[in-house]
Formats: sequence, C-alpha cells, structure tokens
Amino acid sequence: MSLLSASLLGIDFASPLMNASGVCCRYNEELDAMLASDAGSLITKSCTLLPREGNPEPRYTATALGSINSMGLPNEGYEYYLDYAVKHDYAKKPLFMSVAGLSLEDNMAMLTAIREAKLPAIVELNLSCPNVPGKPQIAYDFEAMESMLEAASRVWAQPFGVKMPPYFDIAHFDEAAAILNRHPLVKFITCINSIGNALVIDIERESVVIKPKDGFGGIGGDYVLPTALANVNAFFRRCPDKQVIGCGGVKSGAEVFMHLLAGASLVQVGTALQEEGCGIFARLNAELAEILQRKGYRSLEEVRGKLRTL
Ligand code: FUM
Repeated sequence: MSLLSASLLGIDFASPLMNASGVCCRYNEELDAMLASDAGSLITKSCTLLPREGNPEPRYTATALGSINSMGLPNEGYEYYLDYAVKHDYAKKPLFMSVAGLSLEDNMAMLTAIREAKLPAIVELNLSCPNVPGKPQIAYDFEAMESMLEAASRVWAQPFGVKMPPYFDIAHFDEAAAILNRHPLVKFITCINSIGNALVIDIERESVVIKPKDGFGGIGGDYVLPTALANVNAFFRRCPDKQVIGCGGVKSGAEVFMHLLAGASLVQVGTALQEEGCGIFARLNAELAEILQRKGYRSLEEVRGKLRTL
C-alpha cells in the first residue's frame, strides 16, 4: 500500500485522482490517454441511449477563473462505451461508466444492458446535467430523483453511485441526503457537477462567450471550489454509509487535500484537466504527496473527513 492508495466500494486505486466525466473521455483515444496517465482510474463520457452531437459550438470556454460549458451531452451512445468497458483491462485501473439517459426508461435500458454484460465497471448515474434544453436536472426535482433511484436500484441491483448537482441550502442538503439514504445500493455520491446556468460576459465583445442557451452554461474551476467542498462535506456528514467523490475546483495538490479533508474518498478533475491535459495527474499526485509528507500523514485514510470546525 502506498501513500496515495485509495479505496471505493472495496476496490483499490493507486491514486485518488480521476477525470470528471465530460473531460478526456468521449473517444477511445482519450480514454486510452487517461489509462496511460498517472490517474488512479477513469470514467467514460456521460452516455445516452443513442449517440448525440450535443449543442452548437462554441460550447466550452476557459475563463480567468475556470470555465463555462453547455456541451449538451455529446457522446457516442452507450454501446460505444460498453464496448470500451468490455475490452478494458481492470487489472490496470478501475473503470467507471457515466450514464445520463434522457428519461427514466432510457436509463433503465442502459443499466439493463450494462448489467447483462457482467463487467466490473462502476456505474455513476448522472442526475445533474444542466445543459440539455428542455430537460431539467433530475436531482433538483426530488420526486423525480426518488423515482429514478428506486428504478435504478431495482434494475441495476448492485452498488452504484450518483453524480449530484450543487445544492445551496441546508434544507436541500437534508432532503437530498434523506432520499439517498433511503437507497442502500447508492454507495457513492459524486459532488459536484458544474454550477448550472451561469452567464459569462465578454465586455469587449459585449457578448456571451458560448452559443447554446443564449450563453447560459455550467461553470467549473475556481468559481466552484467552495461550493464543491461544502457539498462534499454536507453529504459526507449526512450519509455515513456511503462514500463521496469530490469534484470541483481542483488544479493543484492543495485542492485535492481540501476535498479529502472534507470527506472525499476519490477526487475528480474537470476544468484543469481540460486545460492542462492528462499530464496533470503526475503533477497533482506529486503535489498531494508533498503535502501529506510535510504534515506527517501516512495514508489518505488519516485525512479523509478530518476537517476541523471552530
Ligand atoms: O453538457 C454536458 O455534456 C454536461 C454534462 C454534465 O455536466 O453532466
């Protein structure tokens, strides 16, 4: 066991780091680059039943404080990622599949097909895509979320995780956590997806910076770090029988360490990976190891959830 060893669902990871779904994961070549990187694992692009082109371009822009996107779930369709998962060498790295059907029925069809393939792939059910016009984020509709989890638990019938949007109110943390806790097969919670429907304005052009939805899109990067940490910690505290994957605002070992303190078992990287490429994982591992060694920690387990309050 090394300093950076991590564990989720009883599976060992050489590093807690992985990509956030949406970055470096649409095509086989990108997934292979993730496999060759120093990330501990990788996740496929959130898939739908059929391939999708996604929203019109430009649909992603980096900014001084992070990024804004409205990709609209461009993906090759679930069968493409299932093929990748069938061929994947699980001894090299665990593989996650992100599933984001446009309806409950689509999700159940995909989960049935993935289940029947009998793979060790880990499913992250995406309840939080903010970018498909006319399709509200499922996890902002608690009734819809309950129905989705009930159906997914029945059809998938094994441990899985959920990708959550950020919440901003204690009452919503409480209610979302209560729903998740009613579903014991939900074993991990990924917090957070982008903060949806933000607007970045370029004052020189007096214009929005992405085309879809009149410029409204999900933001990531520095903008979202405190919100991501709050959500990780809120669900870590409220869901003691589940694990949390942190996602949001990671660009150095320091933010990885913050996510671990807040309660994360694994940590995903989105905007910074998009900007820096897969080489980022070697740097983040080294920076995290330096922080752990400087503070005298011998394992991630000693750090996880150890955030002090005043
Ligand atoms: O637009 C997108 O493809 C993003 C998906 C997500 O944030 O889940």
